[in-house]
Amino acid sequence: MLNLDDLETCTAQEVLARAAAEFGTQLGLASSFGLEDMVLIDMASKLETPLTLFTLDTGRLHEETYETMEKVRTRYGMEIKTFFPDREAVEALVRDKGFYSFRESVDNRKECCRIRKVEPLTRALKGFKGWVTGMRREQNVTRTDILKAQPDEGNPGLIKFNPLADWTEAQVLEYIEANKVPTNPLHKRNYPSIGCSPCTRPIEPGEDIRAGRWWWENPEHKECGLHRPR
Ligand code: ADX
Ligand code: SF4
Repeated sequence: MLNLDDLETCTAQEVLARAAAEFGTQLGLASSFGLEDMVLIDMASKLETPLTLFTLDTGRLHEETYETMEKVRTRYGMEIKTFFPDREAVEALVRDKGFYSFRESVDNRKECCRIRKVEPLTRALKGFKGWVTGMRREQNVTRTDILKAQPDEGNPGLIKFNPLADWTEAQVLEYIEANKVPTNPLHKRNYPSIGCSPCTRPIEPGEDIRAGRWWWENPEHKECGLHRPR
């Protein structure tokens, strides 16, 4: 039985290894193929116990993100379980509100994220006992208190693991360099954080790493619903 409190003092590799040993393929690694997720994929590829790698394809991703996904398939030989939004919900959304409703209000933006990300996540998590994310405390005001392992308030019954919770951006970059981890080519074009194409832009020098995500909103709103208690 995993003692969640003990994991707080473990390294990222240990957290991942112990979670995988406990849950095996009933542990899902949620990936949008950003820098942190690539670190976790690399670590997962070196584990003795396989886990399940999954992604939520919102239908609005950058071409470069698909190229990165393909690199993961070829370099690591890992299967990527891909979840798409409910077809009827997307059809109704764009019919009623158009293709850029998310720019009009925070509520509309959350509606789009709910349809394209949160509902597919709920489906993806079915059958899992735990899931892993690449979130770090430094990333945003909404993430300062995340733990390396915690019961998931948003998805009761599941344990949520954030093995990189205490990592700095420099540690992420060092790991990537040292392990020759493939990355999304957009990072080299000043996109430190990558989500959907219409909701992500490059940042200016000195700007916060998440400044390019939903740049028209305040930082306290900058969560898509994947990581909030529901
Ligand atoms: S977001 O909630 O604002 O989009 P962010 O891009 O910082 O989140 O990613 C945080 C973590 O959420 C990632 O490390 C990954 O574990 C998970 N995640 C985000 N987007 C996706 C996605 N499209 N598919 C799967 N997991 C995702
Ligand atoms: Fe929709 Fe933008 Fe959210 Fe993607 S990030 S699901 S396009 S609102």
